Amino acid sequence: RTANVISAPMTYGQPYVGTDCGPRWLKEAGLRSMLSNLGWRVKEAPALDFDDFSVHKPPKVNNSAKNSHIVGEGTLKLAKLVEETIVAGEFPLILGGDHSIGLGSLAAVLKARPDVGIIWVDAHADLNTPNSSPSGNMHGMPIGLLMDGVLTPDEMPPGCEWVNDYPRISPDSIVYVGLRDVDSEERKLIRKLNIKAFTMTDIDRYGIGRVMEMSLGHLLQDNPDRPLHLSYDIDAVDPVFAPATGTTVRGGLTFREAHYVAESVAASGNLASAEIVELNPNLSDGSGATETVDLGLQIVTSLMGKSII
Ligand code: ARG
Ligand code: MN
Ligand code: MN
Ligand code: MN
Repeated sequence: RTANVISAPMTYGQPYVGTDCGPRWLKEAGLRSMLSNLGWRVKEAPALDFDDFSVHKPPKVNNSAKNSHIVGEGTLKLAKLVEETIVAGEFPLILGGDHSIGLGSLAAVLKARPDVGIIWVDAHADLNTPNSSPSGNMHGMPIGLLMDGVLTPDEMPPGCEWVNDYPRISPDSIVYVGLRDVDSEERKLIRKLNIKAFTMTDIDRYGIGRVMEMSLGHLLQDNPDRPLHLSYDIDAVDPVFAPATGTTVRGGLTFREAHYVAESVAASGNLASAEIVELNPNLSDGSGATETVDLGLQIVTSLMGKSII
């Protein structure tokens, strides 16, 4: 099997520089050789360039969806590359970058694999829209822009109109794991659309083993061979173990729970594409950055098949 490692050093979906360093740090920490050791043939696409744009001269200000032209044009580049990768029969392993890249990666997998199921591991629901977002940061919107029944085509932020040509996420095709900071409009939507969501409270109650069993069970109930996409926001992990990220929320996944999520999805045998996002080595000094990158690397290798024995 061939993995195409796609670097998506996006920063425009949130306010901090440094999220663009995630891919480089993961690679320098030895990603390629670890994947080779797991039996993957590894390809590396040239890092996407998100600063080479045609549409935003000068950048247009839109405070309800900040940098939407740049995010829109950049995520379209990512979407095309992910589609090509899937068509070539390769596994897209996407390294972020902030979570706005989910707009591109999800649009691509929805188009290339219409029956895909999505596992969204995150402290946040990323289900905001330009109208509901308290921050205007687009890393809080990828699911909101793509979810069926949330936005009309004319409400798509400027620069993101291309998304209208891609399929929508059906509310029963996505499962959240690790939620603990959900905005009020997001909460309403989760309830209204009846989206399967396992919060930290559920993890307290059932344990991570049962939660992953229920998550996979929900997505695979009608088709045990369904392809899965995993989107792993490192801020799902407790900031004690992953401090180097922009929107930390206390009370998250433990070190082992963070691994178990990846191990159980890998063990399903259904994983067909994955991304890890929101690592920002600039946001922690000393060992915090190294520990976050190291954990990110371990999560990725677990996803790609590493097991303890
Ligand atoms: N819900 C907040 C917002 O929309 C925070 C989103 C954080 N998202 C993330 N991918 N870290 O602004
Ligand atoms: Mn996120
Ligand atoms: Mn998050
Ligand atoms: Mn919040």
